[in-house]
Amino acid sequence: MALSLLHVVFLGAAMPLLLFGTPAAGAGVVGVNYGRVANNLPDPASVVQLLKQNGITMVKIFDAFPQALRALANTGIKVTVMMPNGNLPDAARDPGYALGWVRSNVKAYYPETQIHDVAVGNEVSYSSPDLTWSLVPAMTNVQKALADLGLADAIKVTTPVAFSAVNVSFPPSAGRFRDDIAQPVMRPMLDLLQRTGSYFSINIYPFDAYDAHPDDIPLDYALGNYTPGVVDHVTGLVYHSLLDAQLDATYFAMENLMGGAARDGILRASLTESGWPSSGGRVARLEAVAEAGGAPAASVANAQAYNNYLIKRVLSGNTGTPHRPDADMDVYIFALFNENQKGFGPDDVEQHFGLFYPNMQKVYPFDFSPPTAESWCVANAPVGDARLQAALDYACGHGADCGAIQPGGACFEPNTMVAHASYAFNSYYQRNHRASGTCDFGGAAAVVYQAPKYGNCVLPSNAWIQETKLKSEGYAAI
Ligand SMILES: *[C@@H]1O[C@H](CO)[C@@H](O)[C@H](O)[C@H]1NC(C)=O
Repeated sequence: MALSLLHVVFLGAAMPLLLFGTPAAGAGVVGVNYGRVANNLPDPASVVQLLKQNGITMVKIFDAFPQALRALANTGIKVTVMMPNGNLPDAARDPGYALGWVRSNVKAYYPETQIHDVAVGNEVSYSSPDLTWSLVPAMTNVQKALADLGLADAIKVTTPVAFSAVNVSFPPSAGRFRDDIAQPVMRPMLDLLQRTGSYFSINIYPFDAYDAHPDDIPLDYALGNYTPGVVDHVTGLVYHSLLDAQLDATYFAMENLMGGAARDGILRASLTESGWPSSGGRVARLEAVAEAGGAPAASVANAQAYNNYLIKRVLSGNTGTPHRPDADMDVYIFALFNENQKGFGPDDVEQHFGLFYPNMQKVYPFDFSPPTAESWCVANAPVGDARLQAALDYACGHGADCGAIQPGGACFEPNTMVAHASYAFNSYYQRNHRASGTCDFGGAAAVVYQAPKYGNCVLPSNAWIQETKLKSEGYAAI
């Protein structure tokens, strides 16, 4: 591939970023939140059968419910148990209390039940602000208890934080934690998480932002598939998904507070709740929406689109964001069931976040099990032709099949930078088995989940590559 001087200069500038684009291991696991604020749910043994039948390998509960922990034994399903908010003052004041709690709620079940972390409290600074003072001391004592019992390598301490802790979230690079908790709570918490090899847990619902501002936020952006993209003009990063923008605001908030280590990406994040309701909404609001000719934010179609997007992101190894393309992240969908005692009544969206009805029927189709969802890599047009050209040259020089975009090739037309770069990026991405970080090119590329088409050129999917690979390895006859 001949490089003009201009391209060499750009490539040189882009190299440090592109180096991270080599295939990286691991990505994350997708699980569910098993909430029980309901009076009509199946018994825990049936729930565990349901998880197994659906290939769900990770679950988070909101306490340490003994029947559930026993039913999960010897299943290989990874479990997050939670110390409820009400226990925090005792656990903060008294290391002996924390030790006793860990003994009877964690050690008693482990390792038969694969507990892999302990959530100390839930959205404390949002739902129990009066307990905020006790949060980090309680986490510290629970972590010490795990260490005393020889469990601290296998089981990490964390605490799910509500996204409202991030005060400034747009542009993502301006991400900041709320002033009242940044220094007194977030800093010592992030220190503890980092020191103990744990991860920062955050609950993020793009649904909330869309529901509050349907006129300002494109639905496709909230659902994770907004082709035009939204640009952060400070970093030049392009966002196709509101969730990514909110995750990056969180990463930037961590970096803005902690600097150094947070910036090096040592401290991981875990998305401990995200989801979308399939029904509900305040009657007054629904009437206003209908009058304006709009559709309700909470619908089966939107919930199906968002939760399948989340599942596909994780299954296809793409938990990275524009700012942290290589980030590994576990994701827990909220929630396993519709819960009929949440919120303010049957019309409240709070009761309709479930993947399943209490009778264990799916609310809409979804699939947690590999073979993995298809995905493609395309150019981010807003970064401009110079960056696209540099990245295109890199891809073609590092294993992408660029024959089809040469004059006379099947994808030479349309002869545009975006179409050619997309072809090359996608080839590089597929040939690297869609490994984490191989669709980044310094921010010039992004993953999409619907087959992209440029003129008559259809970008090949992973299935196509696999077939080609099998043929080249001589298995075509099977
Ligand atoms: C949130 O950010 C705004 C704008 O920077 C600032 O004026 C306000 O004090 C912040 N509030 C909190 C609670 O941090």
